[in-house]
Amino acid sequence: MKPLIAAAALAMIAAPALAEDAAKGEKLFNKCKACHSIVSDSGETIVKGGRTGPNLFGVVGRQAGTYPDFRYGKDLIAAGEAGLVWDEEALQEYLKDPRKFLQHHLEDKKAKSNMSFKLPKGAEDIYAYLATFSAAPAEDAAGDEGADEEKASE
Ligand code: HEC
Repeated sequence: MKPLIAAAALAMIAAPALAEDAAKGEKLFNKCKACHSIVSDSGETIVKGGRTGPNLFGVVGRQAGTYPDFRYGKDLIAAGEAGLVWDEEALQEYLKDPRKFLQHHLEDKKAKSNMSFKLPKGAEDIYAYLATFSAAPAEDAAGDEGADEEKASE
């Protein structure tokens, strides 16, 4: 059913020093689901979570602050409009300290994040996990296609 997890479990025994580990990321995601869910484009719930934060399905390769109908803070929107796309580096820095990340990224000491959560460790695993739900590999997101919203989920 979930070959990824089985493989990763084996890998943990065999090679504990893997830098990125989607299975670990999946566990770590427990910290995120108070505020985030993962719901596929076709409406399948992969992780049931809170609604304080946007759906993270496909977030890797997505322009920051663009999940439809989510009310982002203005600084995250500004960062997205200025070209911020969630690739590996950006996502990991963001998770460590969202506010600092935005301040740095926007060169604005007053920038704020609506995400009041920091992940000091394991961002690379979370990235590996989230990347499994993304069509576009992080590297060079081939532009946002402005995904049509088919379903009206409220
Ligand atoms: C306390 C609630 C909360 C928790 C816990 C939380 N987040 Fe968030 N997250 C938010 C909110 C709110 C936003 C929107 C931020 C904004 O608008 O400035 C957000 C935004 C994001 C974004 C940007 C999404 C986009 O569409 O641009 C990512 C990526 C993200 N969170 C990942 C995570 C991950 C991974 C975790 C767990 C390690 C996590 N978050 C934990 C509330 C949370």
